[in-house]
Amino acid sequence: MKIVVIGGSGLIGSKLVNKLREHGHEAVAASPNSGVNTLTGEGLAEALKDASVVVDVSNSPSFEDAPVMKFFETSTRNLLAYEAAAVVGHHVALSVVGTERLLESGYFRAKMAQENLIKASSIPYSIIHATQFFEFVKGIADFSTVGNKVLLPPALIQPMAADDVASAVGRIAVGSPVNGIVEVGGPEQFPLDELVRRFLAARQDPREVVTDPHARYYGVELSERTLVPGDDARLGETRFETWLSQPTGQIQSTKPQRVRKAG
Ligand SMILES: NC(=O)c1ccc[n+]([C@@H]2O[C@H](COP(=O)([O-])OP(=O)(O)OC[C@H]3O[C@@H](n4cnc5c(N)ncnc54)[C@H](OP(=O)(O)O)[C@@H]3O)[C@@H](O)[C@H]2O)c1
Repeated sequence: MKIVVIGGSGLIGSKLVNKLREHGHEAVAASPNSGVNTLTGEGLAEALKDASVVVDVSNSPSFEDAPVMKFFETSTRNLLAYEAAAVVGHHVALSVVGTERLLESGYFRAKMAQENLIKASSIPYSIIHATQFFEFVKGIADFSTVGNKVLLPPALIQPMAADDVASAVGRIAVGSPVNGIVEVGGPEQFPLDELVRRFLAARQDPREVVTDPHARYYGVELSERTLVPGDDARLGETRFETWLSQPTGQIQSTKPQRVRKAG
C-alpha cells in the first residue's frame, strides 16, 4: 500500500515513515525538503500518484495567528484537491485533544479550520486527536517562562511519547477510515505545573515552576480537564519517567493500557 506522509521529515512524520516501512508499506516522506510543498502545490501531483492513503502530520513554520491560519487552510485545501484528483481513499490528519475547547488561541482556531475542511471534503478520513508529546514539554516550559520563573496552572495533562503517537497514527492509517475523530493519549495524568517541574528537575534546568491557576496556556485559561481526552482514548504505554530516563528516540513499543493518575 502506498502511503504518503506529508510532513514526513518532522518529529512524528519521520518516525511514522520508518514504522510503515518496517510493516512492509511503501511510505513516501513528503515535505519541502523533498520538493513537496502543500502551500504552493509543488510536487503534490507526482507524490500522490497511485497513493491509497495520505497522512498529514505537517506543521506550520509560524504559530502567529495569521500565518498559522493561512498555513492550515491553504495547505489542507490544496492537499484535499490533489487527493480528490488522485482518487486517494483515506485522508488521515493529526490534530490535538481539546482543540474545540482551546479556540481562544489562534493556533487551535487554525487546527479547527483544518479539521472542518477535512470533514467537509468528499474524501474518507480519520482525524486523530493526540495529547501533548513528551518532546513538547520543554516548549511548554519555554513559552511559560517569565524571567527565571515558569508560570503554569495545575490543570491536568495526559502527555504521550512521540513514538507512541507515530505508532497510533500508523495503525489508523492502515485501517479503514473512521470518518470521525479518534483520541490518543498517554498512560498517566499529571497536573501541568508538576509535569514541567519534574522535566526541569530531570534536565537540571534551574528555572522555578510557580503554580498559578490563571496562567495561560497558548493564551487560554485552562479548566481542570481542558487538555485531557475522554474515556475511550487509546493509550500509549510509555511512561513519562521512563522517557525522561532514556535518550530521546530510544523508546519503541506501544500497548493499550488503563489510565493512571500520577503526581
Ligand atoms: N506538539 C504537540 O504536543 C502536538 C500534540 C498533538 C498534535 N500535534 C500535531 O502534530 C503535528 C505534527 O507535529 P510535529 O511536531 O511532528 O511537526 P514538526 O516536527 O514541526 O514537523 C513539521 C513538518 O511539516 C513540514 N512542512 C512545513 N511546511 C510545509 C509545507 N508547506 N508543505 C509540506 N510540509 C510542510 C516540515 O517539512 P520540512 O522539514 O521539509 O520543513 C516538517 O516535516 C502538527 O500538526 C501538530 O498540530 C502536536
